[in-house]
Formats: sequence, C-alpha cells, structure tokens
Amino acid sequence: MVNFDELDTSSQNNFIRHEPGMLTSIYGTSDITPFWVADMDFKVAEPIQQELRRLAERGQFAYEFDDQKVYEALVGWYQRRHNIDLKPEQFAQVPGVLTGIALLIRELSEPGEGILIQTPVYHQFKHLITKANRNLIESPLRIDNGHYRMDFDDLAAKFRSGNVRAMLLCNPHNPVGRVWTKDELEALVQLANQYNVILISDEIHSDIIYSKHAFTSIASYSQQGHVALLGSPAKTFGMQSISNGYIYTLNLERLEQVKAVVDAMYLGHGNAFSTYAAIAAYTKGDEWLDELLTYLKNTLGWIQTFVETKLPLVSLYPVEGTYQVWMNFENLGLTTDEVKEKLIAAKMGLTPGAWFGADSDYFYRMNIASPLSVIQARFRELERQLD
Ligand SMILES: Cc1ncc(COP(=O)(O)O)c(C=O)c1O
Repeated sequence: MVNFDELDTSSQNNFIRHEPGMLTSIYGTSDITPFWVADMDFKVAEPIQQELRRLAERGQFAYEFDDQKVYEALVGWYQRRHNIDLKPEQFAQVPGVLTGIALLIRELSEPGEGILIQTPVYHQFKHLITKANRNLIESPLRIDNGHYRMDFDDLAAKFRSGNVRAMLLCNPHNPVGRVWTKDELEALVQLANQYNVILISDEIHSDIIYSKHAFTSIASYSQQGHVALLGSPAKTFGMQSISNGYIYTLNLERLEQVKAVVDAMYLGHGNAFSTYAAIAAYTKGDEWLDELLTYLKNTLGWIQTFVETKLPLVSLYPVEGTYQVWMNFENLGLTTDEVKEKLIAAKMGLTPGAWFGADSDYFYRMNIASPLSVIQARFRELERQLD
C-alpha cells in the first residue's frame, strides 16, 4: 500500500507551488498552504523511482533515445485503462503538452485566425493562442442545475460564423472537473466536421477519472483530422518536471506536418530520465494509480460532506475527473475581496477563478493531491473564519 498521508517537506521550497516569492506574489503572504498549481505532494510510484535511481547511479548520460518504447508502453496503457487501440507509429513526442499545443496552433492555423476555448478553462490556453497572434474566441460553458455543459447553440453559432479555425478542447476539463461523455464528444465532432473546425484535444488529465465516468479520447476521431494531445505522464503520476508530451493523430497529412516541425526543431530529442520514467509509469504504474484514485476519491468524499454540512453556502461542482475541485463562494454574501481575505486568513492558497476567465471572480480551484490531513486542517480553519 502506498502511504499518501506521508508528507516530505524537505525540498518543497524549490517547487513553484511552495516557492515563497511566488506565494507572496499571488496571496500577499508566503504563510499559506498552497493548493494552486496542479501538481502533487505525493512521491512517484516506486517503479518510477527505481528507474530514476538506476539512471542516476549509472552516472553516464550519452545520447539515448527510446521514444518507440514509450509509444509501445502508451499503447498498452490505453488498452488497459481506456480500452482504446492506438498505433505506435501515429505518435509524435514533444517536450510537453503546452509546447505541443503551441506547435499545433501555429501549424494548423494562420495568424489572425480564430481558436476557440470553452471558458472557464486552464489559463495557459489563452496565453498560447494570443502569443501565436491568433484570435481568441470564447464559448463559455453553461451551468445547468449545478452541472457544467458545453453550450452547443453557442458553439454552432461561432463555428457557423466561419471565424473558428480550431478549437482547443480540455478533455477532461480543468478546472470544472467534467469528463466529457461519448455523446457530448460525438456531437462536438459532428459540429466541428460540419464547419471544418479542427479539434485539438488536451487530454493531460485523462487518467484521473472517478467511478461511473469514462474517458473518451479524441484519438477515436483522429482519422477525420482531429488531433489528440494524449497528454503526458505528468498529471497522472506526479512527474511534472520530468515528462514529455505526446501528440497523436491517425490523419497522415496532419501527422506528417507535426513530425516535420518536430524534426526541424529537434523537439523529439529525448531525455533518459523522462523516457525511462514514462516507460516505467505506463508499464508498471497501474497499481499505484488505482491506489491514488481511491485516495483522491476518499478526499473528495470528505470535502463534499464537510462543505455540505459546515459550509452549505459554498457551491461545489461534481468532480468527475482531475484532482481539481471547483468552488463558488458567491452565496456567502461577501464581496470578492472579502472572500479572498477569508481564504488567506484560513491560509488556504487556492487558484483564483478569474485566472480561468468567464466571470469567475467568486470561483476558486483547489488542487487536492495532498495528504487529507493537510486539506482538512485548512477547511476547518475556513469554517472558523467564516463563522
Ligand atoms: C489542461 C492542461 N494542459 C497542460 C498542462 C501543462 O502541461 P505541460 O506541463 O506538459 O506543458 C496542464 C497543467 O496544469 C493542464 O492542466
């Protein structure tokens, strides 16, 4: 059994999540428990640690590429975990998911063309689009009876306008925690095909799925020209600083295009640590991930009960996937500044919803990949602050 309750704080100040200067710039103080960046307090699975130790002890770091073995490991992983058959030859490796998105935006659209995102959404999407001089088009998600939904009417209108070249899909969705269903994705693919819009699907959170929900990859529709960023082991295995990203498409023309840039810019150049860590993760990481999901599910259950009973004015959205919890503090009857002050007084370092767009000033995202006791302490303090 993995002990996710254990907390090793020895290197924390080096991590951007805990770095005092960073905390001060966001919260005005470094005396706060950070739940903002989507990474983990947990140690990586033992098979990954073993591979990293093996490499470190070897002391030799000559050129060494093994991306084919990574793709084979990924194929096995997707068969076991998601029941999807992928083809090893259809992958391209990139340094990370964000680099992959930047590459796809620049390759698949022209400056000035529109790229659509569904807000509130992971804030770096906006950055990647605007830095590429593409036109940012937003289609806000709708909230129906406390559930986030895609706004298909709005999407259809925006696609129909002819101004959208591609849509950046967050699948599963960070920060709202939706795992898009097969039906939703089929409807989206149909609409995109109708208006010749390319779907670029960021699937970095695809392995953090809670029971009753199932992940569907855009890879299933990639023959039609849509592109999946199958993500990376970063989120799944807590290896944010030692992982690559993987682009996947069955569309040969798109794949050639992607591979040509990867080749021209030498982006696929491997790193022994990320390569062998990924292989270990995808071939020997199932048990660890199952235990992690059980732990996270238990944490979510605790948070849900606590919020329902002790903080009933705080709205918590159903978390179907990801280790992010999306909360709305609007019903507390406080101003947005007062909410912020209460959270800081409770030393609860959440990600401000405003980062993700779509009028989310009363919203906050909480990363729950921390020991439960750490989370409990902050929620109890928040209850005292709001009393
Ligand atoms: C949706 C999404 N995409 C991409 C990333 C970052 O990916 P990478 O570090 O591989 O560039 C994150 C990190 O939080 C994310 O939530």
